[in-house]
Amino acid sequence: MTEHGTAAIRAVGLTRVYRTGGGIHEVDLDVAPGEVLAVVGPSGSGKSTLLYLLGGLDDPDAGRVLVGGVDWRSLRSAARARFRRTACGFVTQGLSLLPQATAAENVEVPLVLAGVDPAERRRRVGEALDRVGLRDEAPKLPDELSGGQQQRVAIARALVCRPAVILADEPTGSLDSANAAAITGLLVETAAELSAAVVLVTHNAAVAERAHRTVTLHSGRFSPDRPANRPERTH
Ligand SMILES: Nc1ncnc2c1ncn2[C@@H]1O[C@H](COP(=O)(O)OP(=O)(O)OP(=O)(O)O)[C@@H](O)[C@H]1O
Ligand SMILES: [Mg+2]
Repeated sequence: MTEHGTAAIRAVGLTRVYRTGGGIHEVDLDVAPGEVLAVVGPSGSGKSTLLYLLGGLDDPDAGRVLVGGVDWRSLRSAARARFRRTACGFVTQGLSLLPQATAAENVEVPLVLAGVDPAERRRRVGEALDRVGLRDEAPKLPDELSGGQQQRVAIARALVCRPAVILADEPTGSLDSANAAAITGLLVETAAELSAAVVLVTHNAAVAERAHRTVTLHSGRFSPDRPANRPERTH
């Protein structure tokens, strides 16, 4: 438990070892609603592996992940996909938008998949694009937008279902430092406003700095000097 109260997402003894020997080992993690956790560590240390497991995109060899108290292990295929669509928003590094769809249509996708009716979809898409400052860009295609704007669309798409958890893998990886700071600020604001837990994988120290807490992975384990569930907030 952190000072924020009940965890939005919790990993217990999470272990996934690939045949190559890489993976993660016995990772424990709690992220509270409204909290932004940065995960840093060298290339190959297991950051993406951890994120896939947190989002139920891969299954651990041991341990478990609870999202809002729901264990991914209790959900099979269709139920798992349904739960993921509403509980988890994903943001990746670039290239994740549908190139032939407008900004608004890209943001709408999770709502279509969730079976939300058209009027409500329009309202929610407008609200999500407003939140990321892109209302006027709604009709544009991704390649008519800057890299920073594309990443904002990806964030709008991740938050449009008001997920309990937002999982972001190097969301600022392809951006300059000003855009990286703006995108990170947006994620921190979003976490607070939606009471979402954000897990933010980054190589960028300036990005990690803005998170409430940072954990470092080394060879698939959290560094012993920075236990994952010890709050390090200074505000
Ligand atoms: N599908 C897979 N099959 C086999 N080995 C894998 C697979 N995915 C990852 N690995 C290995 O597991 C380790 C962790 O990989 P992971 O992608 O989680 O690292 P990362 O910290 O995200 O690295 P990067 O910063 O480069 O994105 C690496 O040694 C990698 O080679
Ligand atoms: Mg990675």
